[in-house]
Amino acid sequence: MAVLILLVFVVVLGLCISTTLLRWNEMRYRKKGLPPGTMGWPVFGETSEFLKQGPNFMKNQRARFGQFFKSHLLGSPIVVSMDPEVNRYILLNESKGLVPGYPQSMLDILGKNNIAAVHGPAHKSMRGALLNIISPTMIRDQLLPKVDEFMRFHLSNWDGKTVDIQEKTKEMALSSTLKQIGIESYSAALKPEFYKLVQGTISLPIDLPGTNYGCGLQARKNIIGILRNILEERRASPGVQHDMLGGLMSSGHKLSDEVIMDQIITLMYSGYETVSTTSMMTVKHLHDHPKALQQMREEHLEIRKRKRPGEPIDWNDYKSMKFTRVVILESMRLTTIVNGVLRKTTHDMELNGFFIPKGWRIYVYLREANHDPFLYPEPLTFNPWRWEDRNLEYNDNFMLFGGGTRLCPGKEMGMVEISTFLHYFMTTYRWEEVGGQNLEKFPRVQAPNGLHIKVSNN
Ligand code: HEM
Repeated sequence: MAVLILLVFVVVLGLCISTTLLRWNEMRYRKKGLPPGTMGWPVFGETSEFLKQGPNFMKNQRARFGQFFKSHLLGSPIVVSMDPEVNRYILLNESKGLVPGYPQSMLDILGKNNIAAVHGPAHKSMRGALLNIISPTMIRDQLLPKVDEFMRFHLSNWDGKTVDIQEKTKEMALSSTLKQIGIESYSAALKPEFYKLVQGTISLPIDLPGTNYGCGLQARKNIIGILRNILEERRASPGVQHDMLGGLMSSGHKLSDEVIMDQIITLMYSGYETVSTTSMMTVKHLHDHPKALQQMREEHLEIRKRKRPGEPIDWNDYKSMKFTRVVILESMRLTTIVNGVLRKTTHDMELNGFFIPKGWRIYVYLREANHDPFLYPEPLTFNPWRWEDRNLEYNDNFMLFGGGTRLCPGKEMGMVEISTFLHYFMTTYRWEEVGGQNLEKFPRVQAPNGLHIKVSNN
């Protein structure tokens, strides 16, 4: 009996403490004019609900509070915007104090000269330098030939094998970028460090030995050491090399070595998960939709018919891959590779009729726009043809690559890599999935146990 009374007492006490803590936390943020919403627990906020429920958390909060609400996620008070017009305004108005707001761990590990860490004139100059080395002309003349050569090599010898396409597309994205940068001969040293760096960017910033963050910082130091040697070697050899590193070293923007090295890390990081996951999901969607697969295969076989055996694809071939482009866009839309982008206020401001304090984060949530039934009827159906007759890629609400002043500068480069990979995959092989495959869509798209396919020659 005494035990039962004690148990009831403990439960009631627990409930009282929880309610008081939740109330207290709500009161702390009850400033006049803040958007509606709930703040959850002190320190932890609503992070665990967000990670558990994923997109449903956002939908539930939207049902309660509308498209613009406050919360406390990933260690910071935050405003979530699901309103496409407000999102566009935010992305276009960085100069009004709406700067990138990525987590500290990410900024520390990617470096203080990382593009997401700089604003104003520094951002403009860095972006200019990057746009120069991945411009359509550079892709046509220098990068596409490298990508083509790499993809043939990467896709050789898959016949008769069962491969994990998740692992293969990750390897493809990183190795292809290293080749375009011009540092592929250092792959063996760079790759293991890069994987640790990626882990570190999505960790709590606790710098202790053995933590993901600590290992990420160390990996960054090691990568910088390797890049410094590469820069010295390049300077010691005559002439300019025609690759991304050569472009950065001879840039009219006169970049310091520190900036060049952070740009290299940015290039490796930005195209890694985005390109690999899009490629994996496109293969998955094609597998599940034979009609689209058939049409796409015909498009690629048609290109091969125009060429001698073994002849590389060129810019015109890439441009002629019209159906491939819409298949990739539809895969990206349906899967939503990038759920949203983060911004931070540099001062107290009014936004969408609400008061937003200095330092608050804003989650420009893009996922819902991808599933908007007005823009994409039957939004959960894979229908690449929907992109053909309407100019959806140029619609104001097309945000697969972000928007405004930070619109992805690697969009075309990424599309070239994915299209070239698919070209050689499709024209060389057929494939079947092996067994049931588990796919997680949130917080990131991944196959926790891999996505295994059995591959055979066409
Ligand atoms: C399918 C592939 C890709 C997707 C879905 C994608 C998506 C995005 C998105 C949504 C942003 C906006 C971030 C923000 O506003 O904070 C962005 C920015 C960026 N992306 Fe991509 N990206 C892809 C491929 C690439 C590639 C291949 C590169 C490099 C060659 C690249 C380089 C960058 C850089 C440097 C930025 C920062 C731009 C700035 O801050 O001005 N991306 N990307």
